Amino acid sequence: MKEFKRTLITAALPYANGPLHIGHLAGCYIPADVYARYLRAQKKDVKFVGGSDEHGVPITIRALKEGVSPQDIVDKYHTLIKESFEKMGISFDIYSRTSNKIHHETSQDFFKTLYDKGLFEEKETAQFFDEKANIFLADRYITGECPVCHNPSAYGDQCENCGSSLSPEQLINPRSTLSDAIPIKRKTKHWYFPLQNYEPWLKQWILEEHTEWKNNVYGQCKSWLDNGLQSRAMTRDSNWGVKVPLPDTEGKVLYVWFDAPIGYISATKELTEDWADYWCKDDTRLIHFIGKDNIVFHCIIFPAMLKAYGSFVVPDNVPANEFLNIEGDKVSTSRNWAVWVHEFVKDFEGCEDVLRYVLCQCARNKR
Ligand code: MF3
Ligand code: ZN
Repeated sequence: MKEFKRTLITAALPYANGPLHIGHLAGCYIPADVYARYLRAQKKDVKFVGGSDEHGVPITIRALKEGVSPQDIVDKYHTLIKESFEKMGISFDIYSRTSNKIHHETSQDFFKTLYDKGLFEEKETAQFFDEKANIFLADRYITGECPVCHNPSAYGDQCENCGSSLSPEQLINPRSTLSDAIPIKRKTKHWYFPLQNYEPWLKQWILEEHTEWKNNVYGQCKSWLDNGLQSRAMTRDSNWGVKVPLPDTEGKVLYVWFDAPIGYISATKELTEDWADYWCKDDTRLIHFIGKDNIVFHCIIFPAMLKAYGSFVVPDNVPANEFLNIEGDKVSTSRNWAVWVHEFVKDFEGCEDVLRYVLCQCARNKR
């Protein structure tokens, strides 16, 4: 076993577009917190970092629908989430946010470094555009009739009635879910990261050297790697996010899954001037606590980015938990099936540890 001198624990940055529910706590934050406290109790050198993920399409859409600015949305939920964590005793050494200046600078530097190394592919493609809302449409914001089962409200990426995975081109009578406009195609240029170039390294590193990772994590990685990786766009058309640090890129921002994990680095920089010890010395043990929907980003895409940049450590483990059920149904923000943490801590003040204990047991039983 390798000797590690210090541990850096990260917990997934929650999207600042809704409150925390107990599923978040059970799957990610309580396990991370328990582990951080366990190492601190042994006087180990440990840092535990987190923060709010404040970019991405869902935040802009929510702002559009509520008639407020994206900044209003993230300010509201960042504050609420941060308070919920404090009340629940999640002992972050820092809880930051991706709208901070240091984060914009850090992620722009990261992008620019990969760009200067010639590691991106520049491609122009035609994407669906909503002329009424004046916005490029991600696949799931396009709806129409399913070509397979004729469900009238299938999404551009999937029909929830028959389960077919779709592309927006296949929908009959496609419409924008934002304005009901008929989407048109418009050309746009983006920078793609060729993940396939990192495939041999990823296979060696995960499939050979990390056979100890949890079955759900290892299995998902194996299936991604067996199916073959592809280039993925690392920029998007939007006015909300980290600006692309290249000339003539007005209206383009970094893909949220590019900037968000770099948020772990920015938060560590904000926390300590020794941040590079935690990120660049190979006797650091980096551990990412996440929910299971985040596996590919933390095990494949972000490590490939770190490797491409050079000089960074990659995670030693990525513990991901299954989702929590309430009365047999998956906890879900969109279906409003949840126990909200800010409500729990208000209604059951003083019972935070009881909830922590119960959720630990849930996570344990679902291991
Ligand atoms: N916001 C994402 C989610 O809730 C998690 C981002 S984790 C990070 O699913 F690594 F990107 F920060
Ligand atoms: Zn269908």
